Amino acid sequence: MKIIVGITGASGSIIGIKLLENLKGHEVSLILSENAKKIIVYETSYKEEDIRNLVSKIYSNKEMDVDIASGTTKFDALIIAPCSMSTLSKIACGIADNLITRVAAVALKEGRKVILVPRETPLSSIVLRNMYELAKLGVVILPPIPAFYLKPKNLEDVVNYIVGKILDTLGIGHRLYESYPGQ
Ligand SMILES: Cc1cc2nc3c(=O)[nH]c(=O)nc-3n(C[C@H](O)[C@H](O)[C@H](O)COP(=O)(O)O)c2cc1C
Repeated sequence: MKIIVGITGASGSIIGIKLLENLKGHEVSLILSENAKKIIVYETSYKEEDIRNLVSKIYSNKEMDVDIASGTTKFDALIIAPCSMSTLSKIACGIADNLITRVAAVALKEGRKVILVPRETPLSSIVLRNMYELAKLGVVILPPIPAFYLKPKNLEDVVNYIVGKILDTLGIGHRLYESYPGQ
């Protein structure tokens, strides 16, 4: 698959990074927002170079004159993980003022798969309304909520579950979590 991943400045950048690690074998382009770069340093031990090695191509969020900013460049899916409320709300309103929001606008107009992993709590009615508008357009809203019934032992289990759910949505097989065995 040809996949574009956006990592924004919401907390939980490890989700986007682990997603990249699990998309090996696919053609993955990455866009990092300016705030995402800061959060990655703050929350993880990954260096930008480590992340660069996980993808085919990396873009700055400031770039607009690049191939993926155009609807003529085909891709199978856009995943923004984690997605800030700012980026989510811009996409819902059709604002395309950076590469991540531009690629999202392109994906929506071209009817391509878009998965957003919004991280915030609690959620304001503004954000809930924007999520609803996006869901009506076919966007998958996939918040990083743990499956408590799978009894995660640590944060890694939680992250694996969320990444697994993203891969499920893409139709990509994985062994990141065991399904509920029933009582
Ligand atoms: C430590 C830290 C954690 C943050 N966590 C979140 C978050 O979980 N969700 C969110 O919407 N914004 C969060 N923000 C704020 C965003 O980084 C900010 O709104 C930024 O403008 C988002 O821009 P971007 O979507 O282009 O990265 C956080 C900021 C900092 C410094």
